[in-house]
Amino acid sequence: MDRALDIALTVNGEAVNERVEARKTLVDFLRDDLGLTGSHVGCEHGVCGACTVRVDGIIVRGCLMLAAQCGGATVETIEGLSDTGELADLQTAFEQRNALQCGFCTPAMLLTAQELLQNGATPSRNHIREHISGNYCRCTGYHAIVDAIESVAQARAAKR
Ligand code: FES
Ligand code: FES
Repeated sequence: MDRALDIALTVNGEAVNERVEARKTLVDFLRDDLGLTGSHVGCEHGVCGACTVRVDGIIVRGCLMLAAQCGGATVETIEGLSDTGELADLQTAFEQRNALQCGFCTPAMLLTAQELLQNGATPSRNHIREHISGNYCRCTGYHAIVDAIESVAQARAAKR
C-alpha cells in the first residue's frame, strides 16, 4: 500500500492543504488533484520541459519533483502567472508571431522565457535558443518562438 503524506503549500497565491501519495509527482498533483492542467506531461523523464512550473521562484521540472517535497513551498503555474499579468507581454508576442501551433509546449515555454527575461536581460538570439533548449516544441521550428522572446526583451528594454 502506498504511503500518503499531508502537505501544506501555496499554489498561485492560495493556501493548499492536501493529502498526497508519497510517490506522486508535482505535475500530476497540480493536474490531477488541483485541476491545474496548463502544466503538461510529455516525457515524464525530465527531457521535454512540458511540465515546467515555478517553485520558490525557480523553474523546475514538475515530473522530476515529488509533490511531497513541496511542503511549505510557493508554487506558481501558468494559470496563476496568467492571472497576475506577469507574462502578458510574452503571451501577446507568442500569439502575434505565431509562436505556437498545438500549444502543448507553450505554458512551459512562457515560464522558461520569463526566467530568462525577468532580470532585465536583453539576450542574443543564440542565448535565447540556448535558454529554451530544454523545452521541446514539435510544431514551430523554434524561429517564431525566438522572434517572440526577442521582441519582448527589446520592448522591455525600451521601457527601462
Ligand atoms: S514531462 Fe517533465 S520534462 Fe518531459
Ligand atoms: S506548439 Fe506544438 S509542441 Fe510547441
